[in-house]
Amino acid sequence: MPEHPSNVTHRDAGPAESARANRRWWDAEARSYQDEHGDFLGDDDLLWCPEGLREADARLLGDVRDRDVLEVGCGAAQGARWLVRQGARVTAFDVSYGQLLESRRLDERSGTAVARVVQADAQALPFRDAAFDVVVSAFGAVPFVADSAGTMREVARVLRPGGRFVFSVTHPTRWAFPDDPGPGGLTVQQSYFDRTPYVELDEAGEASYVEHHRTLGDRVRELVAAGLVLDDLVEPEWPEAHRREWGQWSPLRGRLMPGTAVFVTRKPA
Ligand SMILES: C[S@@+](CC[C@H](N)C(=O)[O-])C[C@H]1O[C@@H](n2cnc3c(N)ncnc32)[C@H](O)[C@@H]1O
Repeated sequence: MPEHPSNVTHRDAGPAESARANRRWWDAEARSYQDEHGDFLGDDDLLWCPEGLREADARLLGDVRDRDVLEVGCGAAQGARWLVRQGARVTAFDVSYGQLLESRRLDERSGTAVARVVQADAQALPFRDAAFDVVVSAFGAVPFVADSAGTMREVARVLRPGGRFVFSVTHPTRWAFPDDPGPGGLTVQQSYFDRTPYVELDEAGEASYVEHHRTLGDRVRELVAAGLVLDDLVEPEWPEAHRREWGQWSPLRGRLMPGTAVFVTRKPA
C-alpha cells in the first residue's frame, strides 16, 4: 500500500525480478513506511486493511490460542505480535530485511517479541509440509508476487488439513482506477482485465517496485487449483466516522466502492 512516484510503466515482470525489486523497495522505505503508518497499524495489532477492520473485531482466523500460525509478508510483524499476545506460536516472514529490522525495533518498544522471524520469498516457502494450523497475510506479499498461483500452492502445502488461510489484498476492481484518493480516482482509466504488471523504474531503467493484478475470478481459480476452499470474501465497508486516508484509500472512494478484499479460505480436513 505504498505511495507511488513518477517513473511508472506497465510491462511483464517475472517472479525473481518482482521479488528483487520489491525487496529493494521495502528495504529502502521500511522506516518511512512505519513512521507514516505505524500509529494506525499499532505495534501489536492485526489490521486487515485501510478501512480499519481489525482481527480483534472481525475474528476471521478463529481461535488461535496454542495454534501454529504463519504470517506471510509480515512487514514489521505488528499482526504477528498481536497473535503472540493471543497465545499462538507464531512464525513470521518477509522478503525485506529492512522490514524485519523494524520488527526487531517494535519487539523492543512493545515488550512483545516475535521469536521466529525469517527472510523469505512467498513464492518458495522455507517450511516443511503441514507445519501450520493458520496462515495469515494482511496486504503482505500476495499483491506483489508474479507467481501468486505458486504462493497459493505453497500456503496449501504448509497448512495442516483443516487449517485456515486468510489474506487481504487491494480489491481487484480498484485496478481499473487511478491510485488517487480524490475525485480523479473515480473514473476508470484502464481495463480491469489487463493483467500487465504495474512497474516502477529506477534511474537505470531497472524495476524498483512491482505490483501484480489478479481479477476476482483469477484469485478464486488460483485458490481452487491449490486445493483450498473459499468460505467467505469480506469486502470491508468504509466506516462513517473513519477519516484517515492511506494512499489511494479515502473516505470519498470508500463510500462508493470496495477498497479491500479479504479471502477466508481453508484446506479441507
Ligand atoms: C503493505 S506491506 C504489509 C505488511 C504488514 N501487514 C503491514 O500492514 O504493514 C507488504 C509487505 O509484503 C512484503 N513482500 C513483498 N513481496 C514479498 C515476497 N515476494 N515475499 C515476502 N514478502 C513480500 C514487503 O516486503 C512488505 O513488508
